[in-house]
Amino acid sequence: MCGIVGYIGPKKAVPILIEGLSKLEYRGYDSAGVAIVNNGKIEIEKCKGRLSALEERLKSNPIDGSLGIGHTRWATHGEPSDVNSHPHSNKDFTISVVHNGIIENYLKLKEWLISLGYEFKTETDTEVVPHLIDYFYDGDIVKATMQAVSKIEGSYALGIVCSKEPDKLIAVRKDSPLIVGKGNGENFIASDIPAVLPYTRDVYLLDNREMAVLTKDNVEIYTIEGLKVNKEVFHVTWDAASAEKGGYEHFMIKEIHEQPKAIKDTMTSRLMPGVDEIKLDDIKLTKGDLENINKIYIVACGTAYHAGMVGKYVIERLAKVPVEVDVASEFRYRNPLINKNTLMIVISQSGETADTLAALRLGKENGARVIAVTNVVGSSVAREATDVLYTWAGPEIAVASTKAYVTQLIAMYIIALYLGRLNGNVSDEEFRLIRDEMLKLPEKAEHLLEQKETIQKFAAMHYVHKDMFYIGRGLDFAVALEGALKIKEISYIHAEAYAAGELKHGPIALIDKGVPVIALATQDELFEKMLSNIKEVVARGAHVISFAFEGNDDISKVSDAVVYLPKTLSILAPVLSVIPLQLLAYYTAVERGCDVDKPRNLAKSVTVE
Ligand code: M6R
Repeated sequence: MCGIVGYIGPKKAVPILIEGLSKLEYRGYDSAGVAIVNNGKIEIEKCKGRLSALEERLKSNPIDGSLGIGHTRWATHGEPSDVNSHPHSNKDFTISVVHNGIIENYLKLKEWLISLGYEFKTETDTEVVPHLIDYFYDGDIVKATMQAVSKIEGSYALGIVCSKEPDKLIAVRKDSPLIVGKGNGENFIASDIPAVLPYTRDVYLLDNREMAVLTKDNVEIYTIEGLKVNKEVFHVTWDAASAEKGGYEHFMIKEIHEQPKAIKDTMTSRLMPGVDEIKLDDIKLTKGDLENINKIYIVACGTAYHAGMVGKYVIERLAKVPVEVDVASEFRYRNPLINKNTLMIVISQSGETADTLAALRLGKENGARVIAVTNVVGSSVAREATDVLYTWAGPEIAVASTKAYVTQLIAMYIIALYLGRLNGNVSDEEFRLIRDEMLKLPEKAEHLLEQKETIQKFAAMHYVHKDMFYIGRGLDFAVALEGALKIKEISYIHAEAYAAGELKHGPIALIDKGVPVIALATQDELFEKMLSNIKEVVARGAHVISFAFEGNDDISKVSDAVVYLPKTLSILAPVLSVIPLQLLAYYTAVERGCDVDKPRNLAKSVTVE
């Protein structure tokens, strides 16, 4: 997620911007830059890499000036590079902009601006903004910004400076966070509170579609339609470390709560209400290409592998192409049958996992076409694959993957629908049904998160156990594996996941009085069979917590407790059913006093074999 900082006051802007950006480093970034208004013109320094690289450049080319904006970029549109780094400017460098969010209609706006003679230097969606403001500018930057944002669809937090009005700093937001820090004879903007805490604890929390106009002595807030807003100052009482986590105790729980937005962002511009096709900019696979594909391999590690298991099920079900799913460390050494008729899908949050990358290379060497599903723009898998589908989860900091997983699931549905539409196996009617249900998932995920106290109580009851079992059938089995992995990695409880029908072939011998069994029963056609499997473990004394859709009340008769999920299609259930399992793992780890964000022996990105 990008970070924004802006300053207007009597001091030199550069050190304040750099310090502010350093407080936002936890958000993750791949490049950084500043734009400073100095002696009637805007001077810019920006580059790919860490903030220290930017600082080095600023040491060799110091910039004076006490009005400026700074940015750390987490790439979405256009790879990490010097030129794609923010700030972006209009042609004569009189207007500069930093942006956090995704401008959904940027291609349309870009074409229109090009037709008017505007020239673009970058691959970013953001670059349309300074040109749009330039188009409307007639001596009033506030008015021009309001006109420009009225044309933008999508999410944005923007910091804007104009060298022709060096007494103003503009901030405006919709669906991306932005705050204003109110100082004494100086004012600040930032995408998060920690960036301004060294200077002030008084902030305005901008709401959606609000705009702040800062001078060094004053802050005025308006709606983007120009109506004045009287906003209360919010006095920050937290310390800087907890502010980085947005008030949450750990990054993991923050990231669990970010899932509704991550799901929505990953669907943005690809799946749209009323549009009967999937739009994918970075996947060029055609109908003809697909006709030559006779096998799909999905290859990944850990949580990404579990998303791949869901991918196998949904691609086979919707596109009707045979799929094998493999753990990357096994795939690369088992001489898989790959040729030019093979399509590989590799899934990796980081895009740098050594085994996944090796599997991708093996696939390419043997003639396969490779689609990468990754969360990191410009990562190794993204660069080396034939096609890329980015999950827009934003940086994931906790070692235990949560929001990346749900966006990987969304990517699997998107690919399955895309392939199914290409080869004609998904009808208009089926497409519309799934699309409309998918678009409701963010709201349903939000609703589930509201039940977190129930899960917290289960964690308080069960955290003392040494073993836990997770059971399910079909897609529920794939989610059971992910639930068990979550609890293992952060609470260190021994957990096993089984296909519920397999229990009686051996594992049921482990079920004893009081052993917690987490039973997933979201697959309509397998519901009755799951009830029988639950009864089998209840008969051996297990304490069963079941997860089923609202309305399936029969399950309460055979379970000690039930968590009801908002109803959706069975095929989409994993996106919702995993959320309470993540919460269960989280609260259990907290009860056990574990280091939730940095579990022992684990690293976020496994770049060694
Ligand atoms: O970055 P990747 O998605 O390639 O990482 C794969 C696994 O290392 C990762 O999912 C791991 O299993 C997580 N710690 C699970 O929470």
